[in-house]
Amino acid sequence: MKRLQDKIRQEGLILSDKVLKVDSFLNHQVDTELVLAIGEEFAAAFAGDGITKVLTIEASGIQFAMATAIALKVPFIYAKKKKTLTQGAHVYAADVYSFTKEEAYRVTVDQSFLTPEDTVLIVDDFLATGAALVGLADIVAQSGASLAGVGCVIEKSFQEGRSLLEQRSIRIVSLARIASMSPGRISFA
Ligand code: G4P
Ligand code: NA
Ligand code: NA
Repeated sequence: MKRLQDKIRQEGLILSDKVLKVDSFLNHQVDTELVLAIGEEFAAAFAGDGITKVLTIEASGIQFAMATAIALKVPFIYAKKKKTLTQGAHVYAADVYSFTKEEAYRVTVDQSFLTPEDTVLIVDDFLATGAALVGLADIVAQSGASLAGVGCVIEKSFQEGRSLLEQRSIRIVSLARIASMSPGRISFA
């Protein structure tokens, strides 16, 4: 997606060989027009797949899942990272290991929101290690729903996430694929 790549070049801050900060337009302050366009790209890529639900994980996947769900005219679900008071026992759960925080956390989705009749599109902001996305794919499998694929706004192709998803034969659509980067330099795949 050219518009997204241009924005990353203009406003992205490359903090190291591995970390790209996009806080001025995606992850903290949000460029709503760009996010809506991102949703339309994902919707177009999966237009023929009969998607019934878009699934993401809180927090920074939510705006992209919402934009995609609006374009597809379906609901979206965000998996929760913490057990809440109102959450019942009837949840699908997956344990995700965060390499950046060096700890595992549990993600959950209420069982009433995903059924074997659903066809799910998973959406997230970054494809990095892929751990969170594998956890979401696991939750979809537990529910018996079909998984149409994963839409990632920014893929860091030099990290292992893509191959982890490919090993599970999951279709991946990434709108910006970064082949490599270092402070002051970025190259798209
Ligand atoms: P992941 O690939 O499964 O997301 O796992 P990883 O442990 O690598 O990433 C941890 C968190 O950092 C994730 O957010 C992920 O989206 C984010 N992340 C990974 N690489 C980058 C990057 O280059 N830049 C930025 N800005 N974020 C990155 P999270 O823990 O799910 O938190 P939240 O922000 O969604 O609440
Ligand atoms: Na995320
Ligand atoms: Na994040």
